[in-house]
Amino acid sequence: MTEVNAILVTGSNGQLGQSFKKIAKDYNNYDIIFATRGELDLSDNNSISNYFQQNSFDLIINCAAHTAVDKAESESELADTINHLAVEQLAEIAKQQQAKLIHISTDYVFNGQQYRPYIETDDVAPQGVYGLTKLKGEQAVLRIMENNALILRTSWVYSEFGNNFVKTMLRLANDRDSLNVIFDQVGTPTYATDLAQAIMTIVQNEAFQQNFSSELVHYSNEGVCSWYDFAKTIFELSGITCDVSPIETKDYPTPATRPHYSLLNKAKIKQRYDLTIPYWKDSLQHCLSVLQENSE
Ligand SMILES: NC(=O)c1ccc[n+]([C@@H]2O[C@H](COP(=O)([O-])OP(=O)(O)OC[C@H]3O[C@@H](n4cnc5c(N)ncnc54)[C@H](OP(=O)(O)O)[C@@H]3O)[C@@H](O)[C@H]2O)c1
Repeated sequence: MTEVNAILVTGSNGQLGQSFKKIAKDYNNYDIIFATRGELDLSDNNSISNYFQQNSFDLIINCAAHTAVDKAESESELADTINHLAVEQLAEIAKQQQAKLIHISTDYVFNGQQYRPYIETDDVAPQGVYGLTKLKGEQAVLRIMENNALILRTSWVYSEFGNNFVKTMLRLANDRDSLNVIFDQVGTPTYATDLAQAIMTIVQNEAFQQNFSSELVHYSNEGVCSWYDFAKTIFELSGITCDVSPIETKDYPTPATRPHYSLLNKAKIKQRYDLTIPYWKDSLQHCLSVLQENSE
């Protein structure tokens, strides 16, 4: 059994990476190291091997990914390198260094044609390059690490950092009185701070401290909405007047096909790690307050 002390967070300038940075002060019993793309470039296998020749950890939390879902359609090789081959290499290294691995994956591994929240064992059928490369990353981890790897699928991540739906809606409402937003894709938003907190709760859990069989778990905030409802709620909670009209996916064509139904069943993660998950509107309110404070 390895007691977790030294933790590496990759992709530290991303939404989840920065959310870990934000909460790290509450976990100063751990030695948390943050690696940016400049320090650890997952598109370059030499960068990865060099980095781990010089550094070793008890736990790697992989938040880095090629997350540009539409761009991935025309950058499939790069997306595969980062989301699949680099993850394979990280898993090999983690196994060799006897480190644990928490790897973040996505609801986009599913085709979204189901009508009940996805459980971890449901059939996967990604609709685009991003989902496919993330799935291959998951499969590589499970193939290489029989033990001590946790793959956490999440959905619709937003935060006060980087680019995301919440910040896009707020920006667009500055210039426009009305917006069209898709109402036939439903899922659950996930506030990146809640996800980072949940992961640290898991890390502290006794079950995680032991050797455990590698597995998949699902995490998002609680509740359900469409992108349309999400946009309406962002404006309501921010006191912004902007007319939002519901449109269908077919009226907003994008290079990548997205799942219509993205709900994740979180029973497993809640039960195993004794987690309480915040309701999405409460977390959205929290994020909007942080954004408001930051703009003052
Ligand atoms: N965003 C979502 O809606 C969503 C939904 C489901 C699952 N996820 C998963 O959740 C995880 C975290 O997502 P996020 O929202 O925090 O994504 P994000 O904000 O796009 O951050 C991704 C990070 O990965 C880094 N990165 C990209 N290419 C890299 C490379 N070649 N080497 C090293 N780092 C690289 C980026 O670096 P730079 O800062 O330098 O660009 C960025 O810091 C990812 O695994 C993602 O697939 C996200």
